[in-house]
Amino acid sequence: MTRIFPYVAVGCCLLLSTTMGQADLLDEAKSQFDIVPKDPTDLEHNPATPEKLELGKMLFFETRLSKAHNISCNTCHQIGRGGADGRSTSLGHDWQHGGRNAPTVLNSAFNAAQFWDGRAADLEEQAGGPIAGPVEMGSTADQAVAQLKGIPGYVDAFGKAFPMDNDAVTYDNIKRALAAFEATLTTPNAPFDRYLEGDENALTAQQKEGLALFIDEGCSSCHNGRNVGGGMYARFGLAESPGQQLLPPADKGRAKVTKNPNDEYVFKVPTLRNIALTAPYFHSGRVWDLEQAVAVMGRAQLGIQLPDESVAKITAFLQALTGDQPQITYPNLPPSVTATPRPAE
Ligand code: HEM
Ligand code: HEM
Repeated sequence: MTRIFPYVAVGCCLLLSTTMGQADLLDEAKSQFDIVPKDPTDLEHNPATPEKLELGKMLFFETRLSKAHNISCNTCHQIGRGGADGRSTSLGHDWQHGGRNAPTVLNSAFNAAQFWDGRAADLEEQAGGPIAGPVEMGSTADQAVAQLKGIPGYVDAFGKAFPMDNDAVTYDNIKRALAAFEATLTTPNAPFDRYLEGDENALTAQQKEGLALFIDEGCSSCHNGRNVGGGMYARFGLAESPGQQLLPPADKGRAKVTKNPNDEYVFKVPTLRNIALTAPYFHSGRVWDLEQAVAVMGRAQLGIQLPDESVAKITAFLQALTGDQPQITYPNLPPSVTATPRPAE
């Protein structure tokens, strides 16, 4: 993954919004972005089967994966709320606040790396983190495996999902099943996807002006590709610091992963798909209004004060990134039996 700087794109795309015709805008958009496929995505080395997807869904909603049996993945990544939790920072085990805002899980299979600092390469690696995270679900890998082995329905479900394994209830298989399910949480058919497919009426005139500005001003030098983000890292405050409230000094971002001081305050450029559903914004979760977030980006990343009218147009374009939300039937979770480990405090 590379880090590029906004002036590169600003330089090459200067004034497209004023000079660009409708066809040019669509061509330019097609060259920078890609649609979310309508068919579910299969992960490399982790092919989906109906049994694995059903198990992954059960685990995603399974509070017994948390130490006190009160938190599931869906607590912080609510599928009916754009895959996020609507809090600045999440409330995890023992009502502890985590340090960062919960990003959406929707379309996360299309991100080049996971977490705000990219410390997990893919969804499998990521899924182990929260279960054993002390301020997330508060469990451990061993505890999670023992818990599920103590529920006969799960032993059966793992056996069906991983038929080649003698001992199928393992932490790796928990992660595989969760990742396979998460890869199905995609949101195709956003107005912007229909536009990219050639339907010029899928965006309003204001949204098209917003798209042109998004390209022109340099937003798409970082937020591009299928996920309109998710493909690279950049310093938050590249042009101007957004201030300590939005960028708390203690969270040094990617530098903690790479140990490279040049990566201080560098974060993954997040996806902007479904962004209208996932306030509050930024890794600190301190901005509740999308227009404000757009204005912050103008100053912090591009060093420009976007006029209110441009902010409104760009925000209208961002609203066209909301796709069809996953329709999930809540899974029936297998009952605990007498021998099932009880919740711990
Ligand atoms: C990050 C999935 C449980 C809070 C993520 C990401 C994924 C994910 C895929 C990365 C998204 C991205 O980078 O774009 C899961 C799964 C869970 C789970 C499968 C269950 C096993 C939880 C819980 C909480 C939570 C219970 C809250 C208590 C967060 C936060 C981040 C995150 C705060 C960002 C952390 C950082 O970047 O350092 N999760 N999550 N997650 N999740 Fe979860
Ligand atoms: C975050 C929009 C330009 C890098 C965000 C967010 C929005 C946004 C809405 C919040 C996402 C969320 O919380 O889920 C825009 C717009 C831009 C723009 C409208 C143009 C005016 C850029 C540029 C870069 C960039 C040019 C790279 C140099 C980032 C990064 C974050 C981010 C790293 C995460 C910041 C953090 O919370 O640590 N952007 N962006 N953005 N954007 Fe932009």
